[in-house]
Amino acid sequence: MSDRRKILVTSALPYANGDIHLGHLVEYIQTDIWVRFQKLRGHDCTYVCADDAHGTAIMLRAEQLGITPEEQVAKVKADHEQDFADFLIEFDNFHSTHSEENRVLSNEIYGRLLANDHIAKRSITQAFDPEKNLFLADRYIKGTCPRCKAEDQYGDNCEVCSATYSPTELINPKSVISGATPVEKESDHFFFKLPEFQQFLQDWTRAGHLQPEVANKLAEWLDVGLQEWDISRDAPYFGFEIPNEPGKFFYVWLDAPIGYMASYKNLCDAKGLDWQEAWKKDSEFELYHFIGKDIVNFHALFWPAILTSADYRTPTKVCVHGFLTVNGKKMSKSRGTFINGRTYLNHLQPEYLRYYFAAKLNASVDDLDLNLDDFVQRVNSDLVGKVVNIASRTAKFISKSGGTLSDTIADENLWQRFVDAGDVIAALYENREFAKAQREIMALADAANEYIADKAPWSLAKQEGTEQDVLDICTLGINMFRALLTYLKPVLPATAEKAEAFLGETLSWNEPVSFRGGQAINKFKPLMTRIEADKVAAIVADSQEALASSQASSSQDTTAPTATGPLVDEPIAEEIDFDAFAKVDLRIALIAKAQHVEGADKLLQLTLDLGGETRNVFSGIKSAYKPEDLEGKLTVMVANLAPRKMKFGLSEGMVLAAGPGKDEIYLLEPHAGAKPGQRVM
Ligand code: MSP
Ligand code: ZN
Repeated sequence: MSDRRKILVTSALPYANGDIHLGHLVEYIQTDIWVRFQKLRGHDCTYVCADDAHGTAIMLRAEQLGITPEEQVAKVKADHEQDFADFLIEFDNFHSTHSEENRVLSNEIYGRLLANDHIAKRSITQAFDPEKNLFLADRYIKGTCPRCKAEDQYGDNCEVCSATYSPTELINPKSVISGATPVEKESDHFFFKLPEFQQFLQDWTRAGHLQPEVANKLAEWLDVGLQEWDISRDAPYFGFEIPNEPGKFFYVWLDAPIGYMASYKNLCDAKGLDWQEAWKKDSEFELYHFIGKDIVNFHALFWPAILTSADYRTPTKVCVHGFLTVNGKKMSKSRGTFINGRTYLNHLQPEYLRYYFAAKLNASVDDLDLNLDDFVQRVNSDLVGKVVNIASRTAKFISKSGGTLSDTIADENLWQRFVDAGDVIAALYENREFAKAQREIMALADAANEYIADKAPWSLAKQEGTEQDVLDICTLGINMFRALLTYLKPVLPATAEKAEAFLGETLSWNEPVSFRGGQAINKFKPLMTRIEADKVAAIVADSQEALASSQASSSQDTTAPTATGPLVDEPIAEEIDFDAFAKVDLRIALIAKAQHVEGADKLLQLTLDLGGETRNVFSGIKSAYKPEDLEGKLTVMVANLAPRKMKFGLSEGMVLAAGPGKDEIYLLEPHAGAKPGQRVM
């Protein structure tokens, strides 16, 4: 091919402190499909990734496990590589940011930033854990919210009242790591002078490297003006020590994207290629970074600026995807929808998920939903019911007539439709419109099935003198199947491989698909079985169990705010008018007394004071609250709910709480100043 493109592709580097879950897999599957597509089209495409090994979270996790960070990182890398391989994600190289290549490149790039006067040094004051001798990022400090007085809130924002503040404003702050009270301490930090790239980034973010909605979001940041970016951390830190600055380390997010380069260099060194060919200014390589929407600022602001300062090329495209929801809601450990890749693989083969994600993915930043019922239904109906069915219905008649395909095209128009669709489908893959591509493919599969049902070779075969017709019809059937499997090969590499064994050929797509006649094919073996719904139920059950035995969730080492808003946990209910709402009498209630209920495993009995009047309410919040912690607190109740007779007595109303349930229940509490009995509007 004369127009053979050179393409280097990356997925974000997963943190080396946790398992790969289905949310991550949205990204790795999306990237892998795109890369496989490019390779299938004959392009010179290379896909590299690595584990993101550095940072406080990983250091603390290793300490918790009683191993060195190096051991922790090696163990997780082996797990990640196995998970990726089993999901058929085919990296050309999977490296680690804790590598010699990355150290050398990080130092070199930092040296260039320094030489270009893009590094500032100044002293800053931070919270410090005097017991652990560790500076504390906001998420490692907890205390009482200065606004609503909710306890146990993180150092930068309150999950109860959504206030944002600095950790110094917390009441009674404590280090999450040691429990000690943090002190303020000064130290020198190094900053990347991002504001100097304001104009460059204003142009770059509008120059076709980003989806429009991403560029719009970044424009909001650019409009308020960029801040210098703190790229250093004090010891102890698991990372690279900054050259000539003992006790100072590169912040994990400085060397993480450089890890893309380092992984590629590691691959090139092994193959005797020059890694700089892809990274030098004016390189003929295209460079694509696939990432989630939470890390846009690192990839579309800091990274292009750093590359520019260090005199390297910038990305061709940063391809941003949304977050995974399961059954319409944020993945949740208590619901069993926070599913690890390995848990899924213990029950189902990877291609079901690859297909389902492909059927949902597009080029937007919108979240995508894994609806578990739809997943079963969709995969079974599309892949097993439509695609595989074409071969199983026609192959046996080829075998019966000797195993060799006819060289007649029984329906030229129909076949031409399959050939012509190739360009349309290729353009959709190229533009990451995978869902549309799958829809085109399934429309072809429908056409193939209609043709076969209409011709009914099984009835025809019972009549005299129809051998050639039956063979011609089924030969077209097999050829339509060949075209479909070619178009599905990026999504279903294992099934395509089985189909290739059956067809006795390698399916390629660097030319339009051609009709295959006059040649032998092998005996057909079933390519794929249906998903049984109980397998999905078992995955959810296992994920709930995994929660019971797992530790606290792993935290992510990000400091910048997310580029897009928080995920909605519950779909919004049907619209109502004001009168309907006004019928609900919401009142501030003082929890005068809270007690356990003999024989009830979920309920607490609350005595609520409505400013004179008292109510007895049973509430299913026992898993999340100790009675003694509730007494004296204010909450909100539905005061005009019809009383309900329960096994334990009469419940006269209901208190309001949020959260998915189990240990995650959060009672509503008004800001200070509200009085019992006041109406809530
Ligand atoms: N280590 C950083 C990336 C450094 S890149 C130089 C990181 N790691 S991560 O493990 O938290 O996430 C890896 C990728 O998975 C990110 O692109 C992230 O957006 C994506 N996802 C993580 N959870 C996700 C969902 N629930 N849904 C979709 N993508 C998600 O960020
Ligand atoms: Zn608060």
